[in-house]
Amino acid sequence: MKNICLAALALACPFFAADLAPTPPMGWNSWNKFAEKVDDKTVREIADAMVSSGMKDAGYAYVNIDDTWEGERDAQGNIQSNSKFPDMKALADYVHGKGLKIGIYSSPGPKTCAGFTGSYQHEEQDAKTWAAWGIDYLKYDWCTAKDVYQPSEMQAVYKKMSDALKATGRPIVFSLCQYGWQDVWKWGASVGGNLWRTTGDIEDNWKSMSTIGFDKQTGHEQYAGPGHWNDPDMLEIGNGGMSRTECMTHLSLWAMLAAPLIAGNDLRGMSDETRDILTNKEVLAVDQDPLGQQGRRVSKEGPMEIWVKPLENGDLAVAFFNRGDLMTDSTAYWAVLGLEGKHKVRDMWRHVNAGAVKDGYRADVPQHGVVMVRIAR
Ligand code: GLA
Repeated sequence: MKNICLAALALACPFFAADLAPTPPMGWNSWNKFAEKVDDKTVREIADAMVSSGMKDAGYAYVNIDDTWEGERDAQGNIQSNSKFPDMKALADYVHGKGLKIGIYSSPGPKTCAGFTGSYQHEEQDAKTWAAWGIDYLKYDWCTAKDVYQPSEMQAVYKKMSDALKATGRPIVFSLCQYGWQDVWKWGASVGGNLWRTTGDIEDNWKSMSTIGFDKQTGHEQYAGPGHWNDPDMLEIGNGGMSRTECMTHLSLWAMLAAPLIAGNDLRGMSDETRDILTNKEVLAVDQDPLGQQGRRVSKEGPMEIWVKPLENGDLAVAFFNRGDLMTDSTAYWAVLGLEGKHKVRDMWRHVNAGAVKDGYRADVPQHGVVMVRIAR
């Protein structure tokens, strides 16, 4: 189909979702750490750090500006950036020059959540402006759209922007942000969404992260796949509110969920500990596995949960999570995983092979922690 599009030189030929986000998008977003303090200089420095820290090599590709970049419209109605962002095109060129992609943020309402200019009644015009700047990713946040639209109009409102983005001829990942209202997982893909938030905003603490990750994603598994992903929100790893162990659980859980991995910390001042968590290639490979199957919980006993995610080569990713306050052990029995005989097990955080194991695998899991293994088939 792509070839037919090229052959016909049809610039507006629809991009297929799976071409845009064949695996869950990986990148960075300004909101969790910087909120309204994000500016041109910070975004450039983050792009530099994404390369120098090894994040880019690990697969993080998008540098996304969240809310508060927006200025007023000019006399022709064109959206302009505010004084924090003197030249969006130049900024996009800079980020592209690093081999990265750049994302932006807007709302279908008259105002964004932070009270800046939204895209209401300027949808096609804004899409064209972003495409002309070189934007590769849009997060489109409901916010004040609730004041001008009925809930029943939500799908059409999102489709309108999706169509506008496609009509620009530039591939732009479309990220829906409406907090999981109206079971968005059931229709997000049909209105052109490549990812959709499934909940309200994450906060930088164990309770928020674990509630979103463990309790609020179940039942949505069937709606995720290449090109369209459930989004449990951006990462809080490295922002200070969670321990190293909890941050390892955060990344592991998001990887098991085949979730978009959008770092939300200051990549410039990142500790080695934070960098090592964010760039654990074995865990990232589970998130990015081309099969694109969202993992699911297969057992829950007290604070202990075992999650399984089938991988493209037939291997199983298995995560043992301990939501409690004491070190506890847990065993994944082969019978529960549909396995028989001996299987090679590799620990993806300790980076060691546990050899060929019979009957089941037993893990000692620290409080709020994880043991994550790959089981060969
Ligand atoms: C909403 C979104 C957040 C962030 C802010 C910006 O709360 O859910 O992720 O984009 O708006 O104002």
